[in-house]
Amino acid sequence: MAGSSEKAPDSGRGVVGAALQKPAARLPHALSVTEDKRDIEEKRRKIRSPNLMLLDNWPGYDLDLFTYPQHYYGDLECVLIPHGIIVDRIERLAKDIMKDIGYHDILVLCVLKGGYKFCADLVEHLKNISRNSDRFVSMKVDFIRLKSYKNDRSMGEMQIIGGEDLSTLAGKNVLIVEDVVGTGRTMKALLSSIEKYKPNMVKVASLLVKRTARSDSFKPDYAGFEIPDVFVVGYALDYNEYFRDLNHICVINEHGKEKYRICEAKLINVFPR
Ligand code: IMP
Ligand code: MG
Repeated sequence: MAGSSEKAPDSGRGVVGAALQKPAARLPHALSVTEDKRDIEEKRRKIRSPNLMLLDNWPGYDLDLFTYPQHYYGDLECVLIPHGIIVDRIERLAKDIMKDIGYHDILVLCVLKGGYKFCADLVEHLKNISRNSDRFVSMKVDFIRLKSYKNDRSMGEMQIIGGEDLSTLAGKNVLIVEDVVGTGRTMKALLSSIEKYKPNMVKVASLLVKRTARSDSFKPDYAGFEIPDVFVVGYALDYNEYFRDLNHICVINEHGKEKYRICEAKLINVFPR
């Protein structure tokens, strides 16, 4: 089953810039006999899919180096991940995913709304790989809509507010495509909703994973970038529905948060009790 429970790695303060977490060349040979099969499988998975780590002291790129919509001038701190790097990284994730599960037919379950850009680019790359290989993989795409954040805070409970009837997942090989894993609560709740419908296999691909003390240790099977505990927007990730039209993944600043904050009275309309 998807995900795993383990501690988030140290932030690795003191090194400037983004650093690639190097994959180990081979499996550790001194696995303790008390480790069960799942631990061993988990170690293998981690080694197979390293994630690109943006360190806590990575200042991001100056906004003036890139173009972005004028209506967001003054609302952003920096460009954390430029659009081109996002797309290049997704191409590699697609390759890793095909190598791992490309011998199955896959049902891609896109988590809306934040996951739609990641899902569209990932599916495009998966299709290209499938088209150019001898092995044809049938791929279907479904959508589910979840809501778990108000302003920049997790509400603590995940709501499924739209999408497919989950019973269609029975017996399928499901690849959940999510924008970001923060605390991990949203994904854990979704997985437990899905498991009731007895899919054959469930894997989770998340474009971003945050290093946060609030993490409940959930780790996706495939992760694009590990980022510091900052609120990010762009590439379909939103702050109260704004910034989805921004190509790069950026850090929102206090001015932006204030400008687009939803006050308590309005929140009651958006999230009725
Ligand atoms: P979690 O339950 O804390 O893991 O939060 C996961 C969900 O919250 C994601 O699916 C996002 O929709 C949303 N989310 C978490 N962090 C951010 C962020 O930095 N920007 C935009 N959305 C976020
Ligand atoms: Mg999401």
